[in-house]
Amino acid sequence: MRITIGLFLLTALYTYGYEPVQPVPKVVEYDRDKAELGKLLFHDPILAKDNRTSCYYCHDLYQKCGTDHRPVSKGFHDREGKVNAPTVYNVRFNFRFFWDGRAKTLKEQILGPIQSPDEMNMSLKEVEDRLNQHPVYREKFKEIYGVDRITFELVADAIIEFEKALITPNSKFDKYLRGEAQLTEDELEGYRLFKKLGCISCHNGINLGGNSFQKIGVIKPYPWHPSYPDRYRITGNEYDKNVYRVPTLRNIDCTYPYFHDGSVKTLEEAVQLMAYYNLGFRLPQDELDKIIAFLKTLRGELPEILKSEGLQ
Ligand code: HEC
Ligand code: HEC
Repeated sequence: MRITIGLFLLTALYTYGYEPVQPVPKVVEYDRDKAELGKLLFHDPILAKDNRTSCYYCHDLYQKCGTDHRPVSKGFHDREGKVNAPTVYNVRFNFRFFWDGRAKTLKEQILGPIQSPDEMNMSLKEVEDRLNQHPVYREKFKEIYGVDRITFELVADAIIEFEKALITPNSKFDKYLRGEAQLTEDELEGYRLFKKLGCISCHNGINLGGNSFQKIGVIKPYPWHPSYPDRYRITGNEYDKNVYRVPTLRNIDCTYPYFHDGSVKTLEEAVQLMAYYNLGFRLPQDELDKIIAFLKTLRGELPEILKSEGLQ
């Protein structure tokens, strides 16, 4: 009873007063030189055994908002080739990484996949050897980190610094939150519905997600499969079946397809499934349209680091 009243009050608060979503800051802190080096590494297949697959291959920063637009990526972080690549944009605002949240820091995130035989299939030593044989990288690491020998530790450090720079500020919605722009009636109504119906209870904060573990199937049971990359695989607790780190909704109109297995093609369908499984009803078409109109205002600008020439 108390919980119900608590939830009711929280929803009322979110609906009528306090803003549960914060804008992406216009400027964030990171080391520019290290990030420029990380940017080179991010785009360079030198890090992968097959010399083909750079980070960019699955996290396209220009055309695909940091994803690959494939339902599932194969042979990388994904242990069984059944996982959709989440965006690398705005990752610095997530509290854990991967669908199951198994990495607590970006460092843990990057260390695992590069070494794993099922993934990038590179030993840390191979990465180091390759880069140390590369005169341009040797020179750049010397310049920026003051070292004669490149270590994996520094490679990870540079890539993480680049990831920290990958924010998408100044979306229409952020400008609205800062009082710099108006939303249309439909967009505004969509945001009100998003709060009133309860989407906001899981999709809030800077990333409208990325800050908690939640279930798909809170109201109506969602089918479960043992290969799903959910919290259950980490904890073994029954109640963690179909529990994921909530995905971000920033740039959501361009990070399709949706859900952990990439099984959902359109944003309309994703929102309808959310309403059905997590809120217990189907949305009338006009409400669906308004929520989509609101979600489309979450498209941000390219980060500063991708606008510049940078290191060549
Ligand atoms: C073959 C495709 C592929 C390549 C190449 C790839 N990734 Fe990923 N990335 C994925 C998939 C799939 C996931 C989700 C895996 C999971 O949740 O288990 C992911 C997850 C991530 C995440 C976590 C995002 C979040 O919010 O949880 C980050 C950060 C990331 N990748 C960065 C990188 C970096 C840096 C590289 C290069 C060193 C890289 N990726 C290379 C497919 C790829
Ligand atoms: C109880 C928590 C909860 C509620 C309430 C909720 N969501 Fe979600 N949402 C999630 C989780 C968890 C996922 C990941 C599901 C998956 O991958 O299987 C998700 C996924 C999504 C996705 C797909 C994101 C992607 O990148 O794949 C969209 C879009 C979305 N939600 C929108 C909404 C909207 C709109 C509402 C309200 C109608 C809503 N959600 C209500 C927890 C919630």
